[in-house]
Amino acid sequence: MKITNIQAQEVLDSRGNPTVECTVTLENGVSASAIVPSGASTGTHEAVELRDGDEKRYLGKGVLKAVDNVNTKIAEVVVGMDVENQKEIDQAMISLDGTENKSELGANAILSVSMACVRAAATYKEIPLYEYVAQLFGNDTNVYEMPVPMINILNGGRHANGSSDIQEYMIMPIGASNLQEAVQWGSEVFHNLGKILKEMGYPTTVGDEGGYAPNLNSNEKPLELIVEAIKKSGFKPGEDIAIAIDAAASEFYKDGKYELKIEGGELSKEQLLDIYIEWVDKYPLISIEDGFAEDDWDGFKLLEDKLGERIINVGDDLFVTNIKRLERGIEMECANAILIKLNQIGTVSETIEVIKKAEENGFHSIISHRSGETEDTFIADFAVGSGVGFIKTGSMSRSERVAKYNRLMRIERELS
Ligand code: PGA
Ligand code: ZN
Repeated sequence: MKITNIQAQEVLDSRGNPTVECTVTLENGVSASAIVPSGASTGTHEAVELRDGDEKRYLGKGVLKAVDNVNTKIAEVVVGMDVENQKEIDQAMISLDGTENKSELGANAILSVSMACVRAAATYKEIPLYEYVAQLFGNDTNVYEMPVPMINILNGGRHANGSSDIQEYMIMPIGASNLQEAVQWGSEVFHNLGKILKEMGYPTTVGDEGGYAPNLNSNEKPLELIVEAIKKSGFKPGEDIAIAIDAAASEFYKDGKYELKIEGGELSKEQLLDIYIEWVDKYPLISIEDGFAEDDWDGFKLLEDKLGERIINVGDDLFVTNIKRLERGIEMECANAILIKLNQIGTVSETIEVIKKAEENGFHSIISHRSGETEDTFIADFAVGSGVGFIKTGSMSRSERVAKYNRLMRIERELS
C-alpha cells in the first residue's frame, strides 16, 4: 500500500521537552502515528538527536528543524513508497541523510517516520503491531514469548539529582509464571520499598523513570533495601526476584578514573570491578549494565572475564545499538548482552539487524525505553515481536512507564 502523506509535529516527552511525532497516511486512508523518546545519559556514539538550539524556544530544545526535515526532505523521497518495504524506506532515509550518525536530518526525524511506517503497515494489514514486528524479523510462526521486565524501582545518577552514583536499581521477577504475575510482583515490591523508605524517614518522590530517588548516601544500601522489600513482599530473593543495575558508568568516569562520590572517591577499573564482585557475591545481582565507561572496552573485558558466567553483562552506551560497535564487542568477548534503543541508531531496520547479529553470536538483547519517554507503547510490541526475552521500561509509576506494562498485559491476554 502506497504512502500518500507524511506529517510530523512537535509534542512533549515525559520531562516536558519537545520531541517528534510523525503520522503516516496510506492510499486507502489508513493512518498511524509514532513518537520518538529521548535520553539524558546519552552515549557519545549515539545517532544525533537534532535540536534547534534556539534559546528563545524551550531553552534551545525545540525540534522544529527535525519536524521540518520530515515534512519536506523526507516526505519528498518516502511519499509514494510501499509502506511494507520497511528496509527500502529506512535505506532511502539513510541515503538521504548521508552521514554516519544521522546528523543531517536528525535521528529523531528519521526514526519517527520509520516507526510510524511500521505501525501504519500493521494497521493496514489489520494485524497487531507485535505480529507485524515478528514478520519484519522473518518470524511467521505466531508463537510469542513475553519478555521478563527489568523494573527500575530506585533511580539515581542523571535521572535523580542528589541520589546514588549508580543510575538504576532494577528488579527482575524471574520466577513469575507470566507477564501479568511479573507486573503484580513488581508493583508489590515497589510499594513495599516505598513503605520501608517512609519508615526510615526518606522521601518517596520519584525520579525520571518512576523509581524512588532517596538520598541514601550509599551505592550499596539500595541493594540491601531492595532485598528487604522483596522479602517483605513474600518473595525469595534470587529465586523469585533478582536484582539488576545500570551503573551508567560513563557519567562518573573522569580522566581514567571512576569517581564514586560515596565509595571513597577515585577508583581504578580494578577497584570498581572489586565492588561489583562483592555485590554479586552478597546480593542476588544478576545483571550489570554499563559497569564501565562507554569507551572502556578493557573494563568491560575485565568484567566479562570475572563475572560473565554469573551475570548478564550489558553494553548500553558501549554499543549504542550500533552494529559496528557490537561486532567489536563480539570479537573482544567483552560483554554478553546489548541494550536496544531504537533512537540510538535511528531506524527500525538497523535495530532489527543489530538484534539478529546479537542473537547469532549468543548475546542477549534487552529492548529499552529512554529516560524521556512518551505515551507511545511501541517498544512493548517491539519486545514481544522481536522475541528477545527482556524489556527495560521503568518503574511501576509514571504513566509513560506504566503504559508499556499495560500494553504488555493486554498483549499477553490477547495471546492466551
Ligand atoms: P537515558 O538512560 O535514556 O537517559 O540514556 C537510560 C539508560 O541509560 O539505560
Ligand atoms: Zn543504560
